[in-house]
Amino acid sequence: MENNDILIQKAGSDDLKEILALQKLAFQTEAEAHGNYDIQPLKQTYESICEDFDTYTFLKATVNNRIIGSVKSKMNDGIVWIGKLIVSPNFRRKGLGKQLLKEVEKLYPDAIRFQLFTAASSNHNIRLYESVGYKLIGEFTDDEQAGLILVEMAKEKNGNQNILA
Ligand SMILES: CC(C)(COP(=O)(O)OP(=O)(O)OC[C@H]1O[C@@H](n2cnc3c(N)ncnc32)[C@H](O)[C@@H]1OP(=O)(O)O)[C@@H](O)C(=O)NCCC(=O)NCCS
Repeated sequence: MENNDILIQKAGSDDLKEILALQKLAFQTEAEAHGNYDIQPLKQTYESICEDFDTYTFLKATVNNRIIGSVKSKMNDGIVWIGKLIVSPNFRRKGLGKQLLKEVEKLYPDAIRFQLFTAASSNHNIRLYESVGYKLIGEFTDDEQAGLILVEMAKEKNGNQNILA
């Protein structure tokens, strides 16, 4: 990162309230852009993020102890699932989102592949993920989020695309 004052480290359970508040702020722009506020990141409860904390590793990016970015990840059978990549609106377009993704990759030296979902209509997000090596591998409708169409994206650990075929 250009800004050396930003620190990225593992978050603790005592960070979850602040991360959830940032998540709700961060996803406002997505909701506005797509005219859909019926999305899980805006509706998630504190109890639910605490349950996530039992199985996911959360990273936090901080400036002066204030959380300005976060991402969660977990590995199952060599596949790392990445979710809730968020950056405070005031700190966007400076590379922090990409840096958080890079830090996730460092957490899993034994991973085969990294996977995530994003909204099919989120061209900015798709471009961001493609710029760091993710490829589109599928599309489906999420009935729990008012029929939101999601795309699945994946990045092979060593650039090997065969597994995705
Ligand atoms: C997605 C998100 C985490 C990106 O954070 P970020 O720190 O801005 O990301 P980076 O600076 O590393 O990368 C930005 C890239 O994303 C794309 N992008 C993001 N917002 C964009 C915009 N408004 N216009 C054009 N491109 C945009 C571009 O490819 C951009 O690269 P560039 O700046 O070199 O052109 C942030 O926008 C966010 O919190 N969004 C709301 C939550 C969300 O949708 N998360 C993803 C869930 S799958």
